[in-house]
Amino acid sequence: MRLAVVGKGGAGKSVISGTMARVLAQGGRPVLALDSDLLPGLSFSLGAGADPALPPLSEAAEKGEDGRWRLKKGIGPARAVQRYATPAPDGIRLLQIGKTPREGLEPIMGAVNAFHRVVHRLVEVKSFELWTMVGDLPAGPRHIAFDWAPYARTFVVVVQPSVQSALAGRRVARIARMRQGVQAVFVANRVTGSADVSHVERLVGERVVAAVPADDGVVEAERLGRAPIDHAPGSPAVAEVERLVTTLANL
Ligand SMILES: Nc1ncnc2c1ncn2[C@@H]1O[C@H](COP(=O)(O)OP(=O)(O)OP(=O)(O)O)[C@@H](O)[C@H]1O
Ligand SMILES: [Mg+2]
Repeated sequence: MRLAVVGKGGAGKSVISGTMARVLAQGGRPVLALDSDLLPGLSFSLGAGADPALPPLSEAAEKGEDGRWRLKKGIGPARAVQRYATPAPDGIRLLQIGKTPREGLEPIMGAVNAFHRVVHRLVEVKSFELWTMVGDLPAGPRHIAFDWAPYARTFVVVVQPSVQSALAGRRVARIARMRQGVQAVFVANRVTGSADVSHVERLVGERVVAAVPADDGVVEAERLGRAPIDHAPGSPAVAEVERLVTTLANL
């Protein structure tokens, strides 16, 4: 399974991608979680805790004489994951683009460049064929249009029951579907009943594959900086993400 989770800001991308990764890993699959957001999110929803000040991937890159970033000699995609992905619960490996530090983007530019190169070469690695990949993308269409999740075969578009969220979701789905061999599915999040689900479906113009309820367990987990699946494992939201994973596996 090769998933990228997309949608408008605050739609629930990190909660859903992190929880899906955990559910898949608990199901016994090797999972690579890919965090391409410069702002915090995925590491908390995975239960991996706070992000490091500098992304480990910084080590993978160097500037050439031409002033351009490149991967250091001897570092291909397999070695980059082996060395610079960090452990998360249930055996997940987490590869991060890095979080914007106080000084601005400059300190993480090596990692940003390395991340882009590595994700574009993941398909080369034979031993990753059996791995599940789950990417958490930053809000909006840019990262989809500029191909920051070339590993993804299914884009999971997260939509809240609001007009803005649905219109944004429709747009990102359209952009994702322009790529060959890629499918996009909609997931409604923070729904409070069946009226919310049909509202979302009317707005996006198609059925959703899952409807994750608004859940106090998720809110509480967020307040504590914990993973929803650790803090509220039996909650309705986590149960629906489990169902979503089964649906995606059978697509
Ligand atoms: N099903 C849910 N029930 C209750 N709260 C939720 C649910 N899903 C997400 N949230 C809350 O909504 C907020 C946004 O969720 P999340 O961070 O996953 O969104 P995001 O799409 O990753 O946001 P961003 O665009 O900033 O990366 C968080 O406070 C999260 O705890
Ligand atoms: Mg997020």
